[in-house]
Amino acid sequence: MASAVFQGPGRMKRAVFAGTGSYLPARRMTNADLERMVDTSDAWIVQRTGIRERRIAAPGEATSDLALPAARAALADASLAAEDLDAIIVATMLGDRLVPATAARIQADLGARRAAAFDLNAACTGFIYALAAGAAGIKSGLFRNALVIGSECNSRMVDWTDRNTCILFGDGAGAAVLAAADGAGGSDILAFELGCDGAKADLIAVEAGGTRLPTTPETAAAGRHFLTMNGREVFKFAVNSICRMLTDLCARNGIALNDIALCVPHQVNYRVIEACCERVPLPLDRFYLNIDRCGNTSAASIPIALDEAVRAGRLARGDLLCLLGFGAGMTWGSALVRW
Ligand SMILES: CC(C)(COP(=O)(O)OP(=O)(O)OC[C@H]1O[C@@H](n2cnc3c(N)ncnc32)[C@H](O)[C@@H]1OP(=O)(O)O)[C@@H](O)C(=O)NCCC(=O)NCCS
Repeated sequence: MASAVFQGPGRMKRAVFAGTGSYLPARRMTNADLERMVDTSDAWIVQRTGIRERRIAAPGEATSDLALPAARAALADASLAAEDLDAIIVATMLGDRLVPATAARIQADLGARRAAAFDLNAACTGFIYALAAGAAGIKSGLFRNALVIGSECNSRMVDWTDRNTCILFGDGAGAAVLAAADGAGGSDILAFELGCDGAKADLIAVEAGGTRLPTTPETAAAGRHFLTMNGREVFKFAVNSICRMLTDLCARNGIALNDIALCVPHQVNYRVIEACCERVPLPLDRFYLNIDRCGNTSAASIPIALDEAVRAGRLARGDLLCLLGFGAGMTWGSALVRW
């Protein structure tokens, strides 16, 4: 499939990472908890996915409630005030409400008076798409500072009686502040690849609740508002996408695989990453993984893992960092960063 490829910075401004933050809701749901809910076992889940526990939002805790602490942490890390922001972009599959955008609520709660605010849905690739939108705004001179958030309350979309899906997902939020840089220095975003194969749109979907199949008592009773997925096909898509994006990214940017200090992939399944490491090849320790503790948090997974990797000292100045996403759509996206 063809992809949109962006190589920077050219004559435009540079977009750099100024700060990161993340937030996980307090409640831990372990595999033992799931054993009491569906016909599964800790051994099966660990062996097939690598997941041991995931976090679940409290009743009443919505997408923006997860996003806010992550956003505040990223702003503090960037030493910026909310009023410095020109844009807030929230990548999410399920916002607080259908209308208005969750970003609008976050703008008000942060007090980011000057900021444009909008949501973006590219499923689990959402954070990479949102990062590209923020970086493009900065490179073009439209924004100076952009807050990019991935936030998901997957637990509200999951059928807790379906063992094929409910074991995989978790809730959480991650955020990054992007800033315009005129001179040298800063964690420079060098290139993006974004793509979509819409013909595969049915591989992961929520059927009802949109204009195609509006909400009715029947759709609710039939459980058509829950997420459905073809796990095996998604697994293959994930491995193929990651391997191809990594190889292409290296070829386009004139770098060797071994030059990449750290990959932060969408946290989908430990076996997916293991398969990629074998095929590419790249040692497993070049991938930052938190799937055992967080499960799949969709658009939040890359920014949560990135923030954790930064806090854990996994990135040094000048390191080449590769962000790798894929998800419903089917979408994919990668970003190359000189940290
Ligand atoms: C979902 C996933 C873990 C399933 O693993 P898998 O190795 O492909 O397993 P299969 O679907 O082949 O199922 C194997 C067996 O385990 C069973 N099974 C499925 N879920 C189970 C569970 N939670 N506990 C126990 N058994 C389970 C299946 O019913 C099947 O039984 P059968 O052989 O009797 O039919 C894996 O395909 C995956 O991670 N895919 C990617 C999904 C994803 O992350 N999507 C979001 C992407 S953004």
